[in-house]
Amino acid sequence: MIGKIHKQMSHDSWLFSKMATPDYTPFVFLLLLFQSGVWGVPSCHATKPGMLNVHLVPHTHDDVGWLKTVDQYFYGDRNDIQHAGVQYILDSVVDQLLKNPDRRFIYVETAFFYRWWKQQTDDMQNTVKQLVNEGRLEFVNGGWCMSDEATTHYSAVIDQMTMGLRFLNDTFGHCGRPRVAWHIDPFGHAREHASMFAQMGYDGFFFGRLDYQDRNRRMVAREQEMLWRASESLTPPMADLFTGILPNGYNPPEGFCWDQSCDDPPIRDDPDLEDYNALVYKTNHIIMTMGSDFQYENANLWYKNLDKLIRYVNQMQSNGSEVNVLYSTPSCYLQELHRANLTWPLKGDDFFPYADSAHDFWTGYFTSRPALKRYERISNSYLQTCKQLEVLGGPISRKGPFGAGDSETLKKAMAVAQHHDAVSGTEKQHVANDYARKLANGWAHCQVLVSNTLSSLSGSSAPRVYCEHLNISVCPLTETSKKFSVNVYNPLARPVSWPVRLPVNGTAYSISDAKGKAVDSQVGLLSLVTFDPETGLLSSLSNLETQQTVKLSQNFYWYNASDGNNSESIQMSGAYIFRPNTSTPFIISKTAKIETLQNSVVQEVRQWFSPWVSQVVRLYTDSRALELEWTVGPVPIGDDLGKEVISRLDSSINSSGVFYTDSNGREVLQRRKDYRPTWNLRQSEPIAGNYYPINSRAYIKDDKDQLTVVTDRSQGGGSIQDGSLEIMLHRRLLYDDVRGVGEPLNETSDIYPEGLVVRGRHLLSLSPPATAADTHRPLAQEVVLQPLITFTDGELHPSTRLEFSGLQAVLPPAVHLLTVSQWDQDTVLLRLEHQYQASESKEHSQPVTVNLQKLFSTLDMLGVSEMNLSANQWKDEMTRLDWKAESGTHHTGVTNQLCLLSPLGCVKTADLL
Ligand SMILES: *[C@@H]1O[C@H](CO)[C@@H](O)[C@H](O)[C@H]1NC(C)=O
Ligand SMILES: *[C@@H]1O[C@H](CO)[C@@H](O)[C@H](O)[C@H]1NC(C)=O
Ligand SMILES: *[C@@H]1O[C@H](CO)[C@@H](O)[C@H](O)[C@H]1NC(C)=O
Ligand SMILES: *[C@@H]1O[C@H](CO)[C@@H](O)[C@H](O)[C@H]1NC(C)=O
Ligand SMILES: *[C@@H]1O[C@H](CO)[C@@H](O)[C@H](O)[C@H]1NC(C)=O
Ligand SMILES: *[C@@H]1O[C@H](CO)[C@@H](O)[C@H](O)[C@H]1NC(C)=O
Ligand SMILES: *[C@@H]1O[C@H](CO)[C@@H](O)[C@H](O)[C@H]1NC(C)=O
Ligand SMILES: [Zn+2]
Repeated sequence: MIGKIHKQMSHDSWLFSKMATPDYTPFVFLLLLFQSGVWGVPSCHATKPGMLNVHLVPHTHDDVGWLKTVDQYFYGDRNDIQHAGVQYILDSVVDQLLKNPDRRFIYVETAFFYRWWKQQTDDMQNTVKQLVNEGRLEFVNGGWCMSDEATTHYSAVIDQMTMGLRFLNDTFGHCGRPRVAWHIDPFGHAREHASMFAQMGYDGFFFGRLDYQDRNRRMVAREQEMLWRASESLTPPMADLFTGILPNGYNPPEGFCWDQSCDDPPIRDDPDLEDYNALVYKTNHIIMTMGSDFQYENANLWYKNLDKLIRYVNQMQSNGSEVNVLYSTPSCYLQELHRANLTWPLKGDDFFPYADSAHDFWTGYFTSRPALKRYERISNSYLQTCKQLEVLGGPISRKGPFGAGDSETLKKAMAVAQHHDAVSGTEKQHVANDYARKLANGWAHCQVLVSNTLSSLSGSSAPRVYCEHLNISVCPLTETSKKFSVNVYNPLARPVSWPVRLPVNGTAYSISDAKGKAVDSQVGLLSLVTFDPETGLLSSLSNLETQQTVKLSQNFYWYNASDGNNSESIQMSGAYIFRPNTSTPFIISKTAKIETLQNSVVQEVRQWFSPWVSQVVRLYTDSRALELEWTVGPVPIGDDLGKEVISRLDSSINSSGVFYTDSNGREVLQRRKDYRPTWNLRQSEPIAGNYYPINSRAYIKDDKDQLTVVTDRSQGGGSIQDGSLEIMLHRRLLYDDVRGVGEPLNETSDIYPEGLVVRGRHLLSLSPPATAADTHRPLAQEVVLQPLITFTDGELHPSTRLEFSGLQAVLPPAVHLLTVSQWDQDTVLLRLEHQYQASESKEHSQPVTVNLQKLFSTLDMLGVSEMNLSANQWKDEMTRLDWKAESGTHHTGVTNQLCLLSPLGCVKTADLL
């Protein structure tokens, strides 16, 4: 079967029926035919056309870890830290829903719901199914967690959404499928998230936080509800998402909080809802979020008062009141907006950065906890490898010579780590430690799986050693062994040239490849880079292939963090907020002590700036990028000043106030200094107000030159001067920033009691703008999905198989193998992605053809079915509400237009058999 991927930047999920591996008995697979018919139409209460309809949405916001760990939150442990127990919330809500069929509740975080569900009796499970079928309990969002939007990578977000949504579909079928995405708490909103939600089949999206200036303008212009066109590459409405801003964050209106955690008096009579008019919204419907963090533990308090509120307010209709109050859910509210048949303003950029007042920019968390951010990113790489090897190894991967392994544990740990107080770095220290522990446990389970598969594929059951501290040049095996072998597994579907750097104890090693040939390590043209001999700093960068040279210097600086003692505002810098107290960062050292080292593979310049800042600049033979490996810490605090450390590149590129950052590692957005595309910005923080999240890359350019920096984790950064690009590496702060976490971001660890030391890499490339994407897309991907390196000690048995490829052939450069994962016993989930943005590459932003039948080397494909991005809906069942943009263009819904949407064109499953 030949399929065509004809849309740029599209990605879809594919479910493969069993692919017989050599270990399997070939298996005949019949494709399921989907039942058509009506399902899951939520039972919404009737509204009144001539009145203001107030949709009361009872909800709880349950962080998957923040002040307490995810387990403590579930059980209600450590209530001295925060009173919160999710198991009691679900117990109590179900009980109260049963007392009155009018009542509604929505639930969001599947990580918690899943745990609760497992502990219920069959009777209770049936009762809950009934509530779901009747639309009284509705799932919204439904991912494992409510992911952070600034510091997450799209592949990990897709995975965590898939995990939560799959549980809901497996458990509740169609009625359990969330129609609405719900990100009421994340601190700014990424365009790529909106694009993913659209491709996951959501009808709409609601959130609570956006810049205060943006909100004020939108209230006046009645633009709090809009159509977000979330991709420049996908044909509308493929990435269009109806987006609504909630009226009061996600809290109830003032005076109307009846949780046990609130002090508002109970309803007696005649509540005054006059203030809550709909003037700032377009329709005669308004949504009110009745709940907040971990509320509804004693749901009777809420429901008793809501019942009364509804009764009293609606009674007044007989006296001429035109307010109608009802129990509702986000999808019922959305249905009314859709029914209103209006046109909506279009939104094309994103919602970063988020400020809640003039000096309070939430741009610090783009970098907070840099070591956790890196660990999360490398864990994603490891998980993708683990899932691939689970498929390639077959059942022996899960039960083999090294014992029982699984990918499930790491999948769950990664899903939890996407939460908006996890990888964001805004949790308490003990909670950050818990996320890291969970990831480490996931690694251990995957290691057994990987060992089993590698032993099966290679025919050698020699023990495998994993050197997890290669990042700090520690690997006892390579440092002591006289002879060892290195196994490199590349999870990308194309060859990469990846330097393997190992600590050894010796001066003479002979290295041979899988064919026994000596590894060729020839030196190429070595002066691509120049250093100023006086200062020891980088002074220029050249690309010999394209004959480009730019002046380029690089150095380290720190911002003096505000301590709150300031005439303009008492806001301090903290885990969330970046607030330097001057616009000029302090240079750590004007000069660096340098040492150069050159061998056949690499030219290396080691720079020492201070006892706590050093860097190694590496240029590998045949590499298209310069590697800057920075080491920062322990950040000194003896002077009682919090510090936010940046690496700054200053070049001769004429960037005219513009720079570019990626969105969740995928499409790239333009950023302009002191400017927002959708409103007239009054800039009040010249540095923090110009910071944006960088997930995998950022660049500046002019007509001739583009300088791209690829990062190895999410970081914040900005371009404050023309030609300059700064990236924040590490933060050490002495005050809490009063957004709830209640701790200063002052990280230490067992091995760094004086303050955390962090190491990371930036890859710099210089190219003509027209072809830059051809370099930075693959480069960023090589950093995101890096090879897994394992070791075996001693001589290999002669029968050991030294080379293996899971693929029959390399995929075309435009196609990324995003997911290969065992779905159930006989099926595999595959995601292929066209990874180039429209018109960013002359060569690669083109339709591509992939032959799915000839993809894998050891698996036979017996059938294929196409699903939505989150794999919880068959593609041909996918119908989304259609929305009209104000511009007047009417885009039809996707019903019956699968050819338009499917990246494989109109291929029918039957063609495959
Ligand atoms: C969702 O669940 C329903 C009911 O069990 C099932 O028929 C359907 O195939 C599932 N959808 C997907 C995409 O797995
Ligand atoms: C309606 O108005 C009458 C007269 O003012 C009053 O007695 C009655 O209580 C009102 N009813 C409601 C439901 O407010
Ligand atoms: C929606 O509005 C358009 C005019 O903008 C009208 O032609 C159409 O009939 C309306 N649809 C419904 C269902 O009312
Ligand atoms: C390195 O080799 C030397 C000499 O053989 C030995 O004394 C030393 O202990 C070795 N170091 C390690 C880390 O193995
Ligand atoms: C840093 O800021 C504090 C006030 O927050 C100020 O007292 C101190 O002088 C500043 N230090 C430097 C080196 O600018
Ligand atoms: C920061 O951490 C250091 C090292 O543990 C400690 O000595 C210092 O008191 C901490 N400062 C604050 C403000 O938490
Ligand atoms: C090295 O990697 C480990 C995880 O494998 C991590 O815990 C540690 O913080 C990293 N060290 C540095 C200096 O980044
Ligand atoms: Zn939250």
